[in-house]
Amino acid sequence: MTEQSQTKAQVINRYIPSILSAKESAQAFAPSNIALCKYWGKRETELNLPTNSSLSISLGHLGSNTHISHAHSGIDMVRLNNKVQDPQGSFSRKVIAFVNYFRREQNIPLIIDTRNNIPTAAGLASSASGFAALVLALDDFFNLQLTPQQLSAFARMGSGSASRSIYTGFVRWDMGEQADGMDSVASQLPCQWPELCIGLIKVSSAKKPVDSRSGMDRTTATSQLYSNWPAQAGADLITIQRAIESRGFNAMGACAEHNAMSMHATMISAWPPLVYWLPESLAVMQRVWQLRESGIAVYFTMDAGPNLKLLFERSSQKLLEAEFAQMDVIQPFADE
Ligand code: PMV
Repeated sequence: MTEQSQTKAQVINRYIPSILSAKESAQAFAPSNIALCKYWGKRETELNLPTNSSLSISLGHLGSNTHISHAHSGIDMVRLNNKVQDPQGSFSRKVIAFVNYFRREQNIPLIIDTRNNIPTAAGLASSASGFAALVLALDDFFNLQLTPQQLSAFARMGSGSASRSIYTGFVRWDMGEQADGMDSVASQLPCQWPELCIGLIKVSSAKKPVDSRSGMDRTTATSQLYSNWPAQAGADLITIQRAIESRGFNAMGACAEHNAMSMHATMISAWPPLVYWLPESLAVMQRVWQLRESGIAVYFTMDAGPNLKLLFERSSQKLLEAEFAQMDVIQPFADE
């Protein structure tokens, strides 16, 4: 950490009363999100402060539901998708460490029950929706009345992309510049796009060999291409936001695909190289490029893993479902 760096506990402490009053129980939902302009790289690792702003689309009703109640046994219990988690396992430890920033030394044993309704078959990460739902549930349970900006900042400390999962629809996470990160928060764009579809194509459900956190660290430390990334991401964000505002599907899709490929170029040029793609990922990319050549407006984006997310409008849905039998289609604005 640099000299002015602050710990998560120091920052969160300022916004939480020293004596908490807890409800019987609380529950919150947060959607999963997919970045169209990616967050890749941190200027500060303790608080997850990014080197660039990013922009995402939320996945509507797909995400995490978190329920918090008192553990009358006197011992914390963490459940995930109806299964009690090993208290020493990485999931429980992450959740409890995060809860402790809020509860501090107070003896308030809790049951924290998280259910993800993201189809496991879709191969999507759930840490963004998970941390956002946890922050929202803690806010309600302890009656903290945090503002949306504070909720977004605290979710970001769990996982960067969780800052965007506090909102639905199109969401921009501004990188901010303050040392405490309280201006590194997301906000919702006032835009809807009912025709927009996301196609989730899972090519592998194996656990990724290198998680996003380590992947980012390795890329920023070793890739010579990385120095170009923050400026490109800054420009892409403006292009994508304008394309969303004017419903320019091709402009949005092309810039999102180019942004994802540029992020992957920084990963591939890291050392040791970070290649998240599998042969099947490349096969889907090539099929997308062929379809585009034949006049179909379809683009893809990819995160730190081998699975693809296709971007298209409802008019192409039938045709693309026939092309990609294994695709799950989400219409982010369908239920709004
Ligand atoms: O929030 P994290 O630490 O899981 O990082 C997310 C990184 C990407 O998914 C690759 C990009 C993004 O903006 O979501």
